Amino acid sequence: MTARTHDIEKAAGVLRAGGLVAFPTETVYGLGANAEDPAAVARIFQVKGRPPSHPLIVHIGGAELLGDWVQDVPEAARVLAERFWPGPLTLVLRRGRRVPLEATGGLETVAVRVPDHPVALALLSAFGGGVTAPSANRFGSVSPTAADHVRAELGEAVDFVLDGGPCEVGVESTIVDVTGDVPSILRPGGVTREELETVLGCPLAVPSTSRVRVPGQHPSHYAPRARVVLVEPEEVVAEAELAQELGHQVGVFLPPSVADAPVKANAVVALPASMAAYARGLYGFLRELDEQGCDLIVASVPAEEGLGLAIANRLRRAAGPRPSSVPGLQER
Ligand code: TXA
Ligand code: MG
Repeated sequence: MTARTHDIEKAAGVLRAGGLVAFPTETVYGLGANAEDPAAVARIFQVKGRPPSHPLIVHIGGAELLGDWVQDVPEAARVLAERFWPGPLTLVLRRGRRVPLEATGGLETVAVRVPDHPVALALLSAFGGGVTAPSANRFGSVSPTAADHVRAELGEAVDFVLDGGPCEVGVESTIVDVTGDVPSILRPGGVTREELETVLGCPLAVPSTSRVRVPGQHPSHYAPRARVVLVEPEEVVAEAELAQELGHQVGVFLPPSVADAPVKANAVVALPASMAAYARGLYGFLRELDEQGCDLIVASVPAEEGLGLAIANRLRRAAGPRPSSVPGLQER
């Protein structure tokens, strides 16, 4: 544990004064502001370069506070909050009056979660209110899983960075919409679909990342500087070699199933067999290959079950077509 009581008090003061604090959660680092301060919330969008229509998550200190932030708590939300909070689950509910429209991108719903990290919980307790926070990276790029990632990417734009060490889960929270008759998964994440289905006792719909083409929402997200190419696991080695022959600086995500194959590439990440370890390392691996100067990353998606579903989702989006209108993505 690196952040001390003094740091927590200081961070809470920054939030009270309308400033921005980057803080650790179990999933990724968040870029936090007082959820009830529209000017502070507006600064988050400015610093991230994120369109103001893109809603944020309100972080609260405990499940018992949920009623303060939403209009009503449906039974499914109560059950999920009780079972998974604190934890990597975000619930979308009907917006309570306390939540300004700036935080929800103008929506009448609000996303809420209780993070499972001692530093985040200490901050929420010292601050006393809700902290609205997206991942602490520039819009469209790779989420930070260590305080150094935040400092490198946002630097002086953040008023204070709380260091809580590396994130345990490594991919963002699972977002579940509980406003309708049947709960649905909006984004796969740290709580698996299987766990949710066991607790709710019913199957859940999951969006198909590869085919979603919502107008105004770019498929490319969670993307490193290098282009990401996805192939079958048994094609990774040959694809990397071909790309290298074509003159690319190639990085490889080497699946455990072909770990023994000799691979010709500029940088190789030997993937862990455990999906929890893969999720924990995913964003760091992408950053590492960027830092090693790769312009192309060859990878394959894992089986889409358990945490593999969230990993596959992030890889597909990292590999998605890149818009020229996203600032920073093309020119970096
Ligand atoms: O693990 C996480 O969820 C991290 C940590 C910091 O808590 N946060 C995070 O925030 O990933 P962000 O802003 O990068 O992603 C939030 C997602 C966005 O895709 C947004 O569209 C969705 O939550 N979201 C927020 N409010 C919503 C709402 N009212 N309805 C539907 N989706 C919503
Ligand atoms: Mg994000």
